[in-house]
Amino acid sequence: MSKKTAVLFVCLGNICRSPMAETVFNKILAVRKLSDDFEVDSAGLIDYHEGEKADARMRNHARMRGYNITHISKPVNNVDFERFDYIVGMDDQNIRALTSRAVTEQQRQKICKMSDFCSLYKVNAVPDPYYGDDSGFIHVIDLLEDACEGFLQFIRN
Ligand code: 4NP
Repeated sequence: MSKKTAVLFVCLGNICRSPMAETVFNKILAVRKLSDDFEVDSAGLIDYHEGEKADARMRNHARMRGYNITHISKPVNNVDFERFDYIVGMDDQNIRALTSRAVTEQQRQKICKMSDFCSLYKVNAVPDPYYGDDSGFIHVIDLLEDACEGFLQFIRN
């Protein structure tokens, strides 16, 4: 049996974007019967929300689109840079923070930006919805559905 491909989605708080990304990606994998080939998780660059469920607004908008977010927030751990094959940040601030925490060039090469995998949307980030209104959460789901398809294509090529 070959090794699973390990993917870590990362955002700032790990209560909105990255748990949503993890949930969308897991659903795509399940539909394609690929779940056994992957290990998927998410984490945050700050530990402020550690132990909390995803933000209620994110969970509600997810539910309206047929997703159930079960992730509990946790911070990025240094071991993650070894354990995961892909470490996927949501915006340039995330990428900078991840890059500064990577120790080796091999670890740095695992870091990529989620919005680079969008094809329907031309964006340079999955923007932080935390301080905004409902439209920001809906936009996050739209972008992540687009990006997750592109990301799966990218890693299977
Ligand atoms: P996320 O959103 O990075 O998509 O989980 C945020 C959640 C919490 C905070 C910022 C962004 N915060 O400052 O507490």
